[in-house]
Amino acid sequence: MVRIVLVQGDITEQQVDAVVNAANSSLLGGGGVDGAIHRRGGPDILAACRALRASHYGKGLPTGRAVATTAGRLPAEWVIHTVGPRFTQDEDRSELLASCYRESLRVADELGARTVAFPAISTGIYGWPMADGARIAVETVRATQTAVEEVRFVLFDTPAYASFEAALA
Ligand code: AR6
Repeated sequence: MVRIVLVQGDITEQQVDAVVNAANSSLLGGGGVDGAIHRRGGPDILAACRALRASHYGKGLPTGRAVATTAGRLPAEWVIHTVGPRFTQDEDRSELLASCYRESLRVADELGARTVAFPAISTGIYGWPMADGARIAVETVRATQTAVEEVRFVLFDTPAYASFEAALA
């Protein structure tokens, strides 16, 4: 079974096989984790994203899906880009958020990644309540069959860390 580790810190500093990016469907960058990954990882990541758009995802990567590129200058081998759902009161999009974790682990398995760092997908600019986002993240990773040995949730601040701690308990 996969080992779940919690870390408070910056996801771009993680020495892991793969870092998951909370991207948007354009794959062309943005704020939050996405901005930090492209800034720190350098232009090779964006070049790989543009190539993916041209070859496979003309209309963009659908919400809940995941795709890998080089990690450029990050201390990781790959970046796995996934598109979380925006939170809304009008519709339950939990299944799409769970899909981000499942699909990212599926891509990690294809790559042969053994250690994977995840941010709290959708809980920033996309507005998902942290406690619920943490619950979905932990439940989904626990329920997913994978050869990944360590999933590291990298939480930016103390409240986010506390939410994941509560979800694990
Ligand atoms: N390391 C770890 N966690 C971080 C970092 C970091 N460097 N930076 C922010 N967080 P967000 P989303 C936390 O907004 O909600 C982008 O514009 C943050 O506090 O990065 O899925 C994309 O292009 C929050 O808890 O992702 C999309 O348009 C969590 O990471 C959109 O934002 C996720 O916040 C995606 O929004």
